[in-house]
Amino acid sequence: MLLSHVPGYFKQRRETLLEKAPGSVFIFPANEEVLRNPDVHYPFRQESHFQYLSGFDEPESFLVLAPAGSQSTGSKHRMVLFVRRRDPEKEMWEGERYGTDGAKQVFGADEAYAIDEFDQRLPDLLKGSERIYYRMGLHQATDQRVLAAVESHRRSLGRSGKSLPPLHDPNELVGELRLFKSAEEIELLRKACRITALAHKTAMREVRPGMNEYEVEALVDYVFRKYGCQRVGYGSIVAGGRNATCLHYRSNNEELREGDLILIDAGGEHDYYTSDITRTFPVGKSFTDGQAKLYELVLGVQKSAVAMIRPGIRLPDIHKHVCEGLTEGLLSLGLLQGSRDEIVKGLGYRRFYPHNTSHWLGMDVHDVGLYLKNGEPRVLEPGMCLTVEPGFYSQPGDTAVPAEFQKIGIRIEDDILVTPMGHENLTADAPKEISEILAMKK
Ligand code: GLY
Ligand code: MN
Ligand code: MN
Repeated sequence: MLLSHVPGYFKQRRETLLEKAPGSVFIFPANEEVLRNPDVHYPFRQESHFQYLSGFDEPESFLVLAPAGSQSTGSKHRMVLFVRRRDPEKEMWEGERYGTDGAKQVFGADEAYAIDEFDQRLPDLLKGSERIYYRMGLHQATDQRVLAAVESHRRSLGRSGKSLPPLHDPNELVGELRLFKSAEEIELLRKACRITALAHKTAMREVRPGMNEYEVEALVDYVFRKYGCQRVGYGSIVAGGRNATCLHYRSNNEELREGDLILIDAGGEHDYYTSDITRTFPVGKSFTDGQAKLYELVLGVQKSAVAMIRPGIRLPDIHKHVCEGLTEGLLSLGLLQGSRDEIVKGLGYRRFYPHNTSHWLGMDVHDVGLYLKNGEPRVLEPGMCLTVEPGFYSQPGDTAVPAEFQKIGIRIEDDILVTPMGHENLTADAPKEISEILAMKK
């Protein structure tokens, strides 16, 4: 079903972007449809910057933002969309398109043209620009088209003696905008997180020994889709027993066994915002002693790391806290030997915890936004959203580990919004206390 209008905040985003780079022209290509085999494409999802700035989710499109110039309609920029032509024959097979009229009426484009006019019209749009923002290197064919327009623009400069406007990557500018979530984006994230928490709860209730990992993946996916997610934000990891020690396990095709833990890292994407939750719980009805000791260690560290989050804290502070907490726990369980600080300094914990603790979250699971500012880790500010995901993994080949702790993978991951006074745990609905988990399995 086609939309009748998009909310006004898309225009506000474009205005903010142009305010940050006055006199610039931005060129954003839509994602391409990728052929899987004849007549079959991989599922299409719009490129996130394109979606963030336009709301327009068709392939074969370009979004061009240019200064308003003399054609001003009260706005500081001109939004130009190049879109697929309406085509009754094609639409009969593939579904309705907005066409140029829809691009203007529904998405607020000031000008809209058929995609096949892009090469001819782009040089004109570049006229008078002080900078061009376009991300080179993603699609060679698109790069060639943009470079051809730049060359044609150069010819139009004639003997004026002017240089070509420099070419910049827009990723940092748009990334900074996307890093700070607006009220509308926070609502979308909350919804993705609510649905994802429900999917994890459903899995906790339904998982039994003898089920296959793919059945659990299907169950989680069903809840995502039933409650309105269009797709997953990333390929779900459903890993029983030793499979959970593989950080990016994706096979999801083994039988779940009594006595093992299951690790599920899955997030539903709702209206282009994704959640990213990991929960680990017993396949049967109880934790073994060894599993419970490790689980309580990871949980305690995870909760205290979440509790640190407020404006002014930096991601490396959180990661350091996690590494120290895990190391202390692993020392007391006899999994590491030596002094805590020496182990942390020498990265000795990486034998059991080889990944980082946090990443930005938003339209993309590993969302855009700089981690450093002026070479220094940046401080958290209200509106940022991040994950907190400590874990423990004892690799199957690591036989020096006491038997009760062998071949175990545990990760606990929540999605946290930084607020002016501290934080909001967007995924608090997904149980993580041992007592809560066991109550779900009754
Ligand atoms: N699901 C990917 C991650 O946790 O970073
Ligand atoms: Mn994550
Ligand atoms: Mn995850």
